[in-house]
Amino acid sequence: MRYSIVSTLLSSLILVQPTLSQCPDYSSYSQARHEPYSTGKYALSYQRPSPECRTFNSATIESLIANISSYITDPDLYRLFQNSYPNTLDTAIKWHGTAANNSAEELTFIITGDINAMWLRDSANQLQSYLPLLEPSTSNTSIASLYRGVINLQARYLLTSPYCNSFQAPVESVIPPATNGAAASDTVTPQYSPDSVFECKYELDSLAAFLQISTSYYAATRDATFFSSFQWLPAVRAVLSTAKAMTTPTYSPADGSVLDSPYTFSRQTSRATETLANDGRGSPVGSGTGLVRSAFRPSDDSTIFQFLIPANMMFARYLASAADIASAISGQQSLADEMRSFASSIRDAINRHGIVTAPAVGNNTDRTTETIYAYEVDGFGSSVIMDDANLPSLLSAPVFGYLEAATDPVYQRTRARILDSASPNGNPYFMRGPVINAVGGPHVGPGMAWPMASIVRILTSNDEIEIYGALREIVASTAGLGLIHESVNSFDAGRWTRQWFSWANGLFGQMILDLLERKPQILKQSFQ
Ligand SMILES: *[C@@H]1O[C@H](CO)[C@@H](O)[C@H](O)[C@H]1NC(C)=O
Ligand SMILES: *[C@@H]1O[C@H](CO)[C@@H](O)[C@H](O)[C@H]1NC(C)=O
Ligand SMILES: *[C@@H]1O[C@H](CO)[C@@H](O)[C@H](O)[C@H]1NC(C)=O
Ligand SMILES: *[C@@H]1O[C@H](CO)[C@@H](O)[C@H](O)[C@H]1NC(C)=O
Repeated sequence: MRYSIVSTLLSSLILVQPTLSQCPDYSSYSQARHEPYSTGKYALSYQRPSPECRTFNSATIESLIANISSYITDPDLYRLFQNSYPNTLDTAIKWHGTAANNSAEELTFIITGDINAMWLRDSANQLQSYLPLLEPSTSNTSIASLYRGVINLQARYLLTSPYCNSFQAPVESVIPPATNGAAASDTVTPQYSPDSVFECKYELDSLAAFLQISTSYYAATRDATFFSSFQWLPAVRAVLSTAKAMTTPTYSPADGSVLDSPYTFSRQTSRATETLANDGRGSPVGSGTGLVRSAFRPSDDSTIFQFLIPANMMFARYLASAADIASAISGQQSLADEMRSFASSIRDAINRHGIVTAPAVGNNTDRTTETIYAYEVDGFGSSVIMDDANLPSLLSAPVFGYLEAATDPVYQRTRARILDSASPNGNPYFMRGPVINAVGGPHVGPGMAWPMASIVRILTSNDEIEIYGALREIVASTAGLGLIHESVNSFDAGRWTRQWFSWANGLFGQMILDLLERKPQILKQSFQ
């Protein structure tokens, strides 16, 4: 256990390790209201821990939060930004140090929030919120150091258990492994150790998340030396070989025999979405599509069909950009070429197999079918037409840079359908109601709308009425707590899930910064 060194003078960015005994447990702190309340009609709680209890203090982010106050007129909207944007830094940097066998190798253990484990997807996205503040720095108290530490720790995780999605604290932290009761009955191949793995659901977007955070760090720093210094290159090779293994079809194209699945997962559970069909192998997948399988979705629910299109999109997009890092490292040209060609073959496969013809949404008289992106396909002609709130989703494809919303008519049709459950052939997981209208998903179930999906709706819209409406619902639906919840009942703001979901909070802040650039006039409006 580390003790508090509250140094306020050393640099502009100051790392603080809290005196844990005196600091409240944020799991319960985030469920109660704290004064001073915001002065709008929602009287939102102040939810930041006191500075000595924050897990990372950054003068840059404090100054940004203060600056933004002059651009936001509504007191409740500003309070929500003030609470949510720093949430990962305030509460989730559970440990930050260096590797036992290499003191130059920084490590950052970032928990998802209310669960004491690090998800590849969440941790990459949790730091992504602070990308606007990332600048080159060798200091171990900088945001750049947090990025390096996450990249190094993810590389270690991927080299140990590339099929797993959520991990334990590194041994150097001396934080004991968290217990995962649900995983106790799991039968998984390849096997893993619960000392290093919290849960082993194979999700293609977890691999993409590593490439995503690598891309972000490289774009901001151009520091190829960092990527050649530790385990990044072997981790990228592990990512490639895992994803290539997961293109394995169910039946041998040569003779029809059933091929071994490189990954299988079975759990004793009453929830269909927590285990895989066919004794852990999942539904059959066809051969020769060029798509990569994903056993689970970013919600950690199992896929119905394993060719999960948004995960393939995200993987293709960041594999191509991470190839630029490999290119910048001497002697890695063939790795870079392999990454680019795999990325481009996945993109071709999405265009060929991920765009499907479906019955047109609504009571259209001029057309009965339309082409859209499917959520999942199986390579035998079947598809799942829906979207799920978790990222990567189809809705978020422009946010992660796979496509340009304005110039992609297939995306525009898909988006219109995703945001519609009233019309025939709309999205089965779009929730409507007087409180909040947003995409949800099977993870929490029908009736529960996800504010995160409203945030993505705003990020992908140019329509001020649509943006204002979605933002207004988010501000009005935090049950006075002033944090972004995982899901909110679309008829009752008092019923919500996850009091401490750091990523969704950071994403809200990211969206406010995006509006400040694109639509500053919206931030000047009243949300009362
Ligand atoms: C906040 O505003 C001040 C004064 O305009 C400026 O010097 C500072 O760089 C700003 N900080 C951030 C993080 O934008
Ligand atoms: C940062 O470096 C200083 C000096 O080497 C060291 O005392 C401190 O523990 C380091 N902090 C982290 C988070 O690694
Ligand atoms: C350093 O230690 C970590 C954790 O035990 C291990 O995964 C890694 O392979 C080691 N690296 C080297 C270069 O020995
Ligand atoms: C579609 O047509 C059906 C049957 O005529 C009607 O009940 C329904 O309200 C229509 N839906 C929309 C969105 O127009």
